[in-house]
Amino acid sequence: MEICRHCGGDIKDYGGYKNKLNSRGLNLTDVWHDISPVRHSKYKTRESNELPLKLMERIISMASEEGDVVFDPFGGSGTTYIVSEILKRRWIGSEIGPIDSIIKRFEDIDFHRDQIKEIQAKKNILFTDEMKKIRRKNGHWLPETLETAKKNKSKKLTNK
Ligand SMILES: C[S@@+](CC[C@H](N)C(=O)[O-])C[C@H]1O[C@@H](n2cnc3c(N)ncnc32)[C@H](O)[C@@H]1O
Repeated sequence: MEICRHCGGDIKDYGGYKNKLNSRGLNLTDVWHDISPVRHSKYKTRESNELPLKLMERIISMASEEGDVVFDPFGGSGTTYIVSEILKRRWIGSEIGPIDSIIKRFEDIDFHRDQIKEIQAKKNILFTDEMKKIRRKNGHWLPETLETAKKNKSKKLTNK
């Protein structure tokens, strides 16, 4: 679920439907706001046009199965290839320019594998642990607090 990155509050008002939200997360919308360009030098393997791992992890895992063949004719820094390899897809590519950064990426495959693990740990859940922490701190609802509120309400009603 999208939350405010400063206070952890809801971006969208789910009204009375909060307790009906899927604990495995919301459906993806057509426009993805949660993926930013690769800027940090630690993650950047070339000067320009590098696709974020998170984008390719999402697309490849949604659109293919293990063992399928992924074809990206515009290799660039090889994000498609490294993600395909890690997700156990076979892959084919071409690149008209230098391919040193692609080769380097494969030499550092374990670094990318760890990043993919981190990305996967944060998907198919409504709130990550970090999100829960900031929401708890600022008094925003969480699925477990909704449950408690519901139980307390029915207790009050039976006591009356
Ligand atoms: C936007 S980048 C691709 C990003 C890449 N898919 C990634 O995973 O980071 C486009 C790349 O296509 C390459 N390219 C452009 N025309 C090409 C061609 N005719 N054949 C092969 N590669 C080409 C460019 O050199 C450039 O590196």
